[in-house]
Amino acid sequence: MSRLIVVSNRVSAPSDPAAGSAGGLAMALSAALRKYDGLWFGWSGETCETFTGELKTEDRAGVTVGLVDLEAQDVDEYYNGYANKTLWPLFHHRVDLTAYERSYGEGYERVNRRFAEVLAPLIQSEDLIWIHDYHMIPLAKELRRLGVRNRMGFFLHTPWPARQLLVTLPFHRRLVESLFDYDLIGFHTEEWKELLADYVVAEAGGRRLDAERLEAFDRTTRLGVFPIGIDVEGFIAARESTLGRRTYDRMAASSAFRSMLVGVDRLDYSKGLEQRLEGYEQFLRDNPDRRGQVFLLQVTPLSRDDVDTYQDIRGRLDALAGRINGEFADMDWQPIRYLNRTYRRDQLAGIYRAAKVGLVTPLRDGMNLVAKEFVAAQDPEDPGVLILSRFAGAAAELKDALIVNPYAREELSDAIKTALAMPREERMRRWEGLMQAVRASDVGLWRDRFVTALKG
Ligand code: G6P
Repeated sequence: MSRLIVVSNRVSAPSDPAAGSAGGLAMALSAALRKYDGLWFGWSGETCETFTGELKTEDRAGVTVGLVDLEAQDVDEYYNGYANKTLWPLFHHRVDLTAYERSYGEGYERVNRRFAEVLAPLIQSEDLIWIHDYHMIPLAKELRRLGVRNRMGFFLHTPWPARQLLVTLPFHRRLVESLFDYDLIGFHTEEWKELLADYVVAEAGGRRLDAERLEAFDRTTRLGVFPIGIDVEGFIAARESTLGRRTYDRMAASSAFRSMLVGVDRLDYSKGLEQRLEGYEQFLRDNPDRRGQVFLLQVTPLSRDDVDTYQDIRGRLDALAGRINGEFADMDWQPIRYLNRTYRRDQLAGIYRAAKVGLVTPLRDGMNLVAKEFVAAQDPEDPGVLILSRFAGAAAELKDALIVNPYAREELSDAIKTALAMPREERMRRWEGLMQAVRASDVGLWRDRFVTALKG
């Protein structure tokens, strides 16, 4: 039987799956690796003086993990630089925040070459190789250069950018050409897939052989849409766990009959957090009678805080949350609880369940699993309402949410008002449609669909 080799910059295989603190993706890939007896390879998150290529292997709950350290310069140019200051903003349509430094591009290619050199000797002839996300686009090219002939698939967890923006990247052709070393390229939505096809046809002189296959650079590759989901049963179990229930009780008690709105996002400018707070502020202005009856719990763990654009947005959010609280709070009520920390999955499930409204309003997002977790955590007899940005990949599936344009403050304010006033029958009807969609994209199905397609 062929083994599965998963590669990603961050290796998140949990040491103790029962603890339930790891995300659904980590759980699903760990389960796949146990099933296929494979290896999960990536950066250790550590730096070293000089790159040695030494592989540190660990067994994490039956999953073999292979990690390598990188030099500080590598981390700076490849991770903080090209991945987080160049590709991430560009892929999220923020050309204004994109840094085009030649050294970042060089560091990116160097690190991918280094990863390939460590990984190639571990690969056996029947192995399937599944590479994840924008950190690793040129990895297949580097592995092919070293003679690896195995089937290789790539999955992009972010949006793919519109051609008019992608061409602002120096060496954009080189980046896209390296995708043609994969046998299969997976996206969350039809929209991201079509944007890549559009670039290849209009900019690289390629052509479509059929709905899935593209030819360019004297090669062909296949594109596919594989919307990722959550581990539905695992999440429901987390909700029903002791800590899940205890957290629900704790939130219900601390809400003191006020309606809770909840947002859970990494601190990232793509998440539309400023616009969300401004939309909520607009709601407080438009509906003075609701002040004191609602509050927003915004859970926002810090992320990529070595990058200046992340430091900037953090400062702006601190100021905005402080200003809104200062302006509207009363002696016994604070409109926003703003937290820079993480919670375990079972705690999150309890928090979501206690909320009347879930706010998932990114300006652009590959998928967004918080939207799906919020749905799975609800009480079927009295579910909360999901307000979802039309610019999240999840909006393609979660059509029964209240779909909003997150840039429009007044539209957000109206949606909050509608959600809080929505009759139970409508909430239940919408939730059923949402839950069906969440089940249809369960992360186990996602994984099996991709692996089956990769096998060809
Ligand atoms: C997004 C990316 C992932 C990344 C995660 C956390 O979801 O698609 O590849 O791992 O953000 O970001 P970080 O930079 O902390 O790994």
